[in-house]
Amino acid sequence: MRPLVAGNWKMNGLSASLAELGSLQDGLAVLGLRLGSDVLVCPPATLIAQAAWKVAGGAVALGGQDCHAKDSGAHTGDISAQMLKDSGASFVIVGHSERRQHHGESDGEVAAKAQAAWRAGLKAIICIGETQAPRYAGDANQICGKQLDGSVPGGATPANTVIAYEPVWAIGTGKTPTSADITAMHAHIRACLVRRLGKGGREMPILYGGSVKPDNAGEILNLPEVGGALVGGASLKASDFLSIIRAISGS
Ligand code: 13P
Repeated sequence: MRPLVAGNWKMNGLSASLAELGSLQDGLAVLGLRLGSDVLVCPPATLIAQAAWKVAGGAVALGGQDCHAKDSGAHTGDISAQMLKDSGASFVIVGHSERRQHHGESDGEVAAKAQAAWRAGLKAIICIGETQAPRYAGDANQICGKQLDGSVPGGATPANTVIAYEPVWAIGTGKTPTSADITAMHAHIRACLVRRLGKGGREMPILYGGSVKPDNAGEILNLPEVGGALVGGASLKASDFLSIIRAISGS
């Protein structure tokens, strides 16, 4: 299975930031056949259409950071999965912890958004992850298992869904779980997916996210059951993001 290195720009980026996409494209072209992963960038929705022109014909796919659960209608300010697709996206992140925390998104809403993504022909990147307190209390597995059960719809397959494990306490903090903890959690997620989805659950990519940087990417991305990374801060600069991509490509 080819790994996926995905960048989530969050609420960062203006038209001028598209120059970073150009630099990313150039760096990937230099890697050429040594590029060992698929590469995705999720810029703010306002930039997707311009970004699509910028990356046309290259190795970078584009994604949205959220979508509405409905296809269209009276939802002022919201963006549908179809709109993202129409702008040039092929993926959309759903259930990011920043959406769950600051917009009160429930597991059920996240599942409905994943289904909306599929209807539009987008791949859903469904995020899960525990906060600090349950990690200390030894409840991380139970929390993540519950999120998976509630957020991943029954029709999920490796063709339409990617899981991203992002421990909330590791996001933007420079802290990461130990390699042993990442390995244990990814094994747990794999077991939950297989129990729920059967064969499809065995092949569904599981990304790790949370303070992935050029200096820790090599170690994290080589752990068992880590099918790639979801990168926040370090995806904003093409040079850092390329270092992470090179770490997985072994070059
Ligand atoms: P950081 O890489 O900045 O910790 O963010 C991770 C993240 O939330 C990606 O979705």
